[in-house]
Amino acid sequence: MSRWKRVVSEVRADVAAARDRDPSAQKVSTFEILSSWAGVQALLAHRVAHALYEAELPFLPRFLVYLTRSVTGVEIHPAARIGREFFIDHGSGVVIGETAEIGERVTLYQGVTLGGTGFQRGKRHPTLGDNVTVGSGAKLLGPIAVGDGAKIGANTVVVEDVPPGATVVGNPGHPVKVDGRRVEGPDADWIHLPDPIAEAIKTLSQRLAELERRLAELDGAESPDPTAAELRERTGRSSAGG
Ligand SMILES: CC(C)(COP(=O)(O)OP(=O)(O)OC[C@H]1O[C@@H](n2cnc3c(N)ncnc32)[C@H](O)[C@@H]1OP(=O)(O)O)[C@@H](O)C(=O)NCCC(=O)NCCS
Repeated sequence: MSRWKRVVSEVRADVAAARDRDPSAQKVSTFEILSSWAGVQALLAHRVAHALYEAELPFLPRFLVYLTRSVTGVEIHPAARIGREFFIDHGSGVVIGETAEIGERVTLYQGVTLGGTGFQRGKRHPTLGDNVTVGSGAKLLGPIAVGDGAKIGANTVVVEDVPPGATVVGNPGHPVKVDGRRVEGPDADWIHLPDPIAEAIKTLSQRLAELERRLAELDGAESPDPTAAELRERTGRSSAGG
């Protein structure tokens, strides 16, 4: 019986977490969240499937996972261990493997995979600490550890341990901030990576401008505006502002 009391209290905490962390759920009733938030439904089903799995019931836990995936697009293995106040925003496309362990107050966005790297057995999925955020489309692969308070950027591929409080972005993922401070060092800038194609176009454009200038000199004509053929730096607001 205490197992089912635990499930009810976990589900209550999960609904409160959804209201707390999803700006669009602020004034929404518990009934509406339970009936319309796919991430919350998937988690609710996992809480039940996990309890059935712990009770060593055959068939039912996995069948529940199958039904839940069909409705929500979220697949959580019934053996995965998930802490309190977990929240999956939007739901769809999330996969959480059998030996994954997730701490308290963790947030995942759609399309996140906590998976293995191949066909190995035993512990083969990630362990996430408390207060971790994983952005949409991020893939965390292998039995890696993600420290408390870490943030994994959208579309990042993480295959190594992440220190507590780090922000990791890129493929493969690298820490660009730790505890809110930028990582220093010659190999620390994993955000502004060179773009070889843009560089090649820029070089061609510069050579074209030079050729046009020389041709104009030979013809005795006025040189064309060289900036017209050159690439300009990208400008505009960055989405990193929030
Ligand atoms: C990583 C993230 C959590 C921000 O963490 P943060 O610690 O506040 O980091 P910042 O916003 O200061 O970003 C640090 C740098 O990483 C860059 N960055 C942020 N997210 C990135 C990403 N996913 N991929 C590549 N670079 C990224 C920023 O542009 C910034 O670069 P700058 O130094 O040129 O300004 C956030 O950008 C993110 O990806 N959130 C996921 C949100 C999501 O999935 N939303 C879906 C809603 S449907």
